[in-house]
Amino acid sequence: MRQKIVAGNWKMNLDYNEGLSIFSEIINMVNDEVTGKQSVIVCCPYTYLHSLSALAKTHPKVSVGAQNCHQEDAGAYTGEISARMIKSVGAEYVILGHSERRQHFGETNLVLSQKTNAVLSNSLKPIFCVGETLEERESGQFFDVIKSQISEGLFHLDAQQFGQVVLAYEPVWAIGTGKTATAAQAQEIHAFIRKEIATQFGQSVADETTVLYGGSCNPKNAKELFSEPDIDGGLIGGASLKSRDFVDVVKAFN
Ligand code: 13P
Repeated sequence: MRQKIVAGNWKMNLDYNEGLSIFSEIINMVNDEVTGKQSVIVCCPYTYLHSLSALAKTHPKVSVGAQNCHQEDAGAYTGEISARMIKSVGAEYVILGHSERRQHFGETNLVLSQKTNAVLSNSLKPIFCVGETLEERESGQFFDVIKSQISEGLFHLDAQQFGQVVLAYEPVWAIGTGKTATAAQAQEIHAFIRKEIATQFGQSVADETTVLYGGSCNPKNAKELFSEPDIDGGLIGGASLKSRDFVDVVKAFN
């Protein structure tokens, strides 16, 4: 059975003390209330990774991730953070290819394939995001867009490396808009993603790959989304900034 995951993406929100206190609340609520086998990941700003990872160490259900990394391990790249650095402070995951990074920071499929290599070679796991814009959905190009994001970003890996990857489908038009994809719309894309993985790596690898949905996922709609056969959890933005809401999304799997 593939792993069920609910991951929070705090983006550029919360200061250090706020982050620490919300994370402690999440850990306590997960301990007290989560009865299923789902895993919980919190992807925080770089500067909180060390503290949150230390807190997560004694909680087997909870892990910590970064939201980006540079593709090189070290070098003259002022202001950048490498996967090696993220690993060295105890984090386990790195979000790659979020649409906000593609859109505002010009990240291409090629650079994301290099970042994926950096993450895997440092024994971290990528949470690799794909998704179409509203324009791409309305013009019917979305299958092609998602196919090229996956194949150009990830299909240079071998099956064993690919086994470390978590995918996240995040339609850009659903992010932060309150406009969730319907469970049927999301399921259609998740099934398509799994089919593409099966073609490249074989059915058993595809069956083991966790594919998350992201985009205005909240305690009200999580259960319906997560009950679709190819939706293995969520990547949660806004609702991950409140411990109660986030843990209620996690509990959609209880
Ligand atoms: P929202 O849940 O705020 O729509 O954000 C989703 C997202 O971008 C998670 O990475």
